[in-house]
Amino acid sequence: MKKKIAIYPGSFDPPTNGHLDVIERGLQLFDGVIVSIMHNPAKQSLFTLEERMDLLREITKTFSNIEIDSSDGLLVDYAVKRNAHAILRGMRAVSDFEYEFQMALMNRRLNRDIQTVFLMTGLRWIFISSSIIKEAARFGGDVSDMVPPVVYQKLKEKFPLMK
Ligand code: PNS
Repeated sequence: MKKKIAIYPGSFDPPTNGHLDVIERGLQLFDGVIVSIMHNPAKQSLFTLEERMDLLREITKTFSNIEIDSSDGLLVDYAVKRNAHAILRGMRAVSDFEYEFQMALMNRRLNRDIQTVFLMTGLRWIFISSSIIKEAARFGGDVSDMVPPVVYQKLKEKFPLMK
């Protein structure tokens, strides 16, 4: 039988406990998950691509059937190149819905063979995003229970005000 591979795309700037939660859930459903850092033209990143790749590799080093990669092209083309038939996205609150809905339908229009699968993040992470964590950290907020320890250390290097 064919292996079912999902692409989990995102900016991961930086990866959070919410991302990690989605990766773990995705690994329960698929034979393999390729976490791919992709370009979101609407966002300017704090961490370099190499930093984000290293962080993702570090926080998933105990997982099997996972690969960390990056691409600056179109997501559906990347999925075809990697023989994946699913795009995995985490869904938090209603506020995510419109953006995710639009992206999933656009991706479907671009390639009907690729399905988008949404997974609910754990309740504990429902309110967090990389953006809100960066905002809190920039002004000295304690975000230590929202990101893996290695990400927390990296954030501290960027934001000296952090506790
Ligand atoms: O974590 P993000 O920023 O919400 O992830 C968005 C991302 C990177 C998955 C999205 O911008 C993306 O797919 N970029 C690659 C270019 C592309 O294919 N865009 C989708 C057309 S709808």
